[in-house]
Amino acid sequence: GAAGATGLALGATGGALVQSALSDSPAGSPGSAGSLASLGATRVAFHGEHQAGITDPLQAKGHVLAFDLAPGAGRKEAAALLRRWSDTARRLMAGETAPTADSGIALDAGPSSLTLTFGFGHSFFDRTGLTARRPAALDPLPDFSSDRLDPQRSNGDLWVQIGADDALVAFHALRAVQKDAGEAARVRWQMNGFNRSPGATASPMTARNLMGQVDGTANPRPKDPDFDKRIFVPGAGPGPAEHSWMAGGSYAVVRRIRMLLDDWDKQSLAQQEQVIGRTKATGAPLTGGDEKTALALDKLGPDGKPVIPSNAHARISAPAQNGGAAMLRRPFSYHDGIGPDGTPDAGLLFICWQADPLRGFVPVQRKLDRGDALSEFIRHESSGLYAVPPGPGDGEYVGQRLLE
Ligand code: HEM
Repeated sequence: GAAGATGLALGATGGALVQSALSDSPAGSPGSAGSLASLGATRVAFHGEHQAGITDPLQAKGHVLAFDLAPGAGRKEAAALLRRWSDTARRLMAGETAPTADSGIALDAGPSSLTLTFGFGHSFFDRTGLTARRPAALDPLPDFSSDRLDPQRSNGDLWVQIGADDALVAFHALRAVQKDAGEAARVRWQMNGFNRSPGATASPMTARNLMGQVDGTANPRPKDPDFDKRIFVPGAGPGPAEHSWMAGGSYAVVRRIRMLLDDWDKQSLAQQEQVIGRTKATGAPLTGGDEKTALALDKLGPDGKPVIPSNAHARISAPAQNGGAAMLRRPFSYHDGIGPDGTPDAGLLFICWQADPLRGFVPVQRKLDRGDALSEFIRHESSGLYAVPPGPGDGEYVGQRLLE
């Protein structure tokens, strides 16, 4: 998405705003910035160096789903499917109707920052006879001791992420993507998420998660000098030529992380703040300053212990503690009602982006797995790792450089 150029995601409004033809306000409707009309009109580019939905601002509504190719479907069917999906994505992101039999669900609404993002799982390459072109970065993630993973809701041949600031627009895209799959692929799992709606706060700010924490503060920013290197696969370099189709792409790690909210809510505010190492109200480090102030990890309290506890989540996950390992977190919250045990089935659809999972998610999660104060309040229930190819050029479909 071209939107990456203007400030990132978490908390920022805007992105690359291309006013679509649908932006004309009907007579009598509020036409000022932040009104429904402008929210609906906000459009993210489909074509570009990178796919949309990576550096674009978090949307209010999300669907993530994985597909498996149908028995007998191979490379040819996969290529045709990616061509259909790309055509649909290009049109819907521009606020147009779906190419075939539009369901009408999004009629009257503009694209509302809709993004569709497509990726390939490890198993895709076996199914399509493309194993020689599977990058090592797609090797299965290691097991972590705290994993409680449901294989039925993990992995999959193909992955699609949908985000939009309007729930009907997002669902419309979801239906179109499912219909496009036709006989070629079947839904393996689907998860639905949400974030705060644009305009809900007095001014744009970092999102909160369902534990109530300000979440996304220390994310890498597109203006950081090493941002591209950390998040996107380099264009040219020492890598094997058979993997060049991923140049400009990124790897997405997707974890459904249940929050044990009843246990969490029993903690005092002070206890909750010790778990992260930041205040709940503003997200400022416990060592002082405001949300943007760096954590003073060496600062000791009157008791001689570090003010930010040794097992605080923000300490353990910081790049400085992990040999520089960094990722871009761009999650959705989820809530699927009350589970059989009477507790909320709610938490974080954790989605993080990196040029190489071995320099991003894996070392950090290894460390968190060994001693994160947050561990007793969360449970990783599903996992996926996907190669998300670069953005398509004009006239190109997503993944064409691999599938052609
Ligand atoms: C930071 C919450 C899981 C990696 C944070 C912060 C919060 C938070 C509140 C501090 C504010 C910020 O910088 O965003 C959570 C919750 C999780 C979760 C509620 C699970 C439900 C994970 C996982 C990873 C991770 C699984 C990666 C393996 C990070 C990183 C930072 C961070 C890299 C920034 C550290 C820094 O640079 O200072 N998280 N997190 N988090 N978290 Fe998590």
